[in-house]
Amino acid sequence: MIKKYSYKIYKFQILFLGFVLVIASISCKSEKTVNRIINRGKLADSIMVVSAREEASRIGAEILKNGGNAFDALIAVDMALNVAYPFAGSIGGGGFMVYRKANGETGSIDYREKAPMAATSTMYLDAAGNPIDSLSRQGPLAVGVPGGIAGMFAIHKKLGSMPMEEILKPVIELAENGFTITENQLGRFKAYASLFEHVNRKEILFSKGFRPSDSIKIKANTLFKNPALAATLKRIAKNGESEFYDGETAQILVNFIQKHNGIITLEDLKSYDAVWRDPIVANYKDLKLIGMPPPSSGGIALAQILKMIEPYSIAQYKHNSLESIQLITEAERRAYADRSFYLGDPDFNTIPIDSLLSDRYNLKRMESFSFNEATPSLEVERGELSGYESMETTHFSLVDQFGNAVALTTTLNGAYGSKLYVDELGFFLNNEMDDFSAKPGVPNMFGLLGAEANKIEPQKRMLSSMTPTIVEKNGKLWMTVGTPGGSTIITSVLQTILNVSDFNMGMQEAVDAPRFHHQWLPDVVTFEPNAFGTDLLKQLENKGYIIQQENSVILGKVDGVLILPDGRLEGGADRRGDDTAVGF
Ligand code: DON
Repeated sequence: MIKKYSYKIYKFQILFLGFVLVIASISCKSEKTVNRIINRGKLADSIMVVSAREEASRIGAEILKNGGNAFDALIAVDMALNVAYPFAGSIGGGGFMVYRKANGETGSIDYREKAPMAATSTMYLDAAGNPIDSLSRQGPLAVGVPGGIAGMFAIHKKLGSMPMEEILKPVIELAENGFTITENQLGRFKAYASLFEHVNRKEILFSKGFRPSDSIKIKANTLFKNPALAATLKRIAKNGESEFYDGETAQILVNFIQKHNGIITLEDLKSYDAVWRDPIVANYKDLKLIGMPPPSSGGIALAQILKMIEPYSIAQYKHNSLESIQLITEAERRAYADRSFYLGDPDFNTIPIDSLLSDRYNLKRMESFSFNEATPSLEVERGELSGYESMETTHFSLVDQFGNAVALTTTLNGAYGSKLYVDELGFFLNNEMDDFSAKPGVPNMFGLLGAEANKIEPQKRMLSSMTPTIVEKNGKLWMTVGTPGGSTIITSVLQTILNVSDFNMGMQEAVDAPRFHHQWLPDVVTFEPNAFGTDLLKQLENKGYIIQQENSVILGKVDGVLILPDGRLEGGADRRGDDTAVGF
């Protein structure tokens, strides 16, 4: 029996994977390796930018061609996504960035949203103590204090090389002159138009022309302008970071939120800071992973899963075979159980990072695994650590002509975040507060459970799954990768890395390959549709796995860059979306 469990995300980007793979094989360049033919994606000699929108990738590549570095380019790409990809724009949200400079220096920055000072651990519970989901997912109380602009300015100050005005110029032009609405976007705007109006209590830029009742309808492949966002970006370019956190823009934002009975104040904005953090560094075979530390769970969970898999030499099993699916699923199950208990904002919790990443601990975690049958999640609690004392997203990857690499994932959380649109400023506000655990044992919108470590506290950052990752091989830059997808982010990044490292795929192939996902609870394995054989799924069911397969399920939208042995760059732009690799 195929069990249905509904928690999925990308309803309007349904591309059947068989079709995807056929198109992929037609449009890619082929290359024969020792074992098989690799169908490469976009190839370039020195510059590669892969993001969710062609306009953003192009703007980033132009910055690089004009002599900017990866960090100048990332600011331009990030800001251009705010214009052309409002589904997940970062200005009203937050994100994480991991970098590796050409000289091998690595680092990461956390510009995740924070809970407002007036937030409380019971703010989403009714009188009986039950969570009211809508409060943490839509409207003013769902909004965390945005970190996007603080993040961009902190990156610029430490690593940028061009003046901010120059970096933002093409982005402002894009907002003024318009971006092209894709079919995917048109579908989404139409689907969300009435919800936008319900939450905002009036029509907004992204509802007018998208409603069934509109006599003049906006069509796909036409230009769409956002003059309010252009004006906001102009003020930010001129006045700097303080414009957003303490200036006219801050005042407009606070007035807007308070008019809607939200709790974010000017004090919340003024006290926001982005934080540089030491990345999670872990080895898997001959690879060195450089990942995002807490408040993201991504770096730790990815490293744990790889460490649990490592002793089994997964390459001996075929890609997406019964054994490889079992092995990955069981490792995911155990890592997500640990995530749920141990991880949260490191400024509020002591996180046992070294213990969680130790080879010995992860080996022990897999002692209960057998290829004979599934381990029920209810029998998998968090692992015991000796000496432990207790407590709509988008990703882009880029490599510049100097050899600097960047992996950046940014989010509003759900599609268009809280759906609250600050019309005067031209952007949506996040609903990141739902990433907290509203009550222990109660799942959030991604079905994830949290504990004490991720309870709501004033000025705390909510736990994330975002996994921007850079990988070295033999001490050299090898890959930069990441994806949106909520709880499925970690497992999509994992499979993409394994596809290249152990299953001998190219970057584009690895990104396009069908994926599956397990997150401990709910105890189901989710498969992308029409890509896994019925016999295989039946065999998994016979071993006790509960299978979920729905047509609307798309697991992540991975964008990555692989450095080939001859030094060329291969972009992998996920064909599940409008993602585009631009390289020179
Ligand atoms: O930080 C997180 O883990 C979530 N807010 C990410 C949400 C996400 O990826 C939604 N996009 N599809």
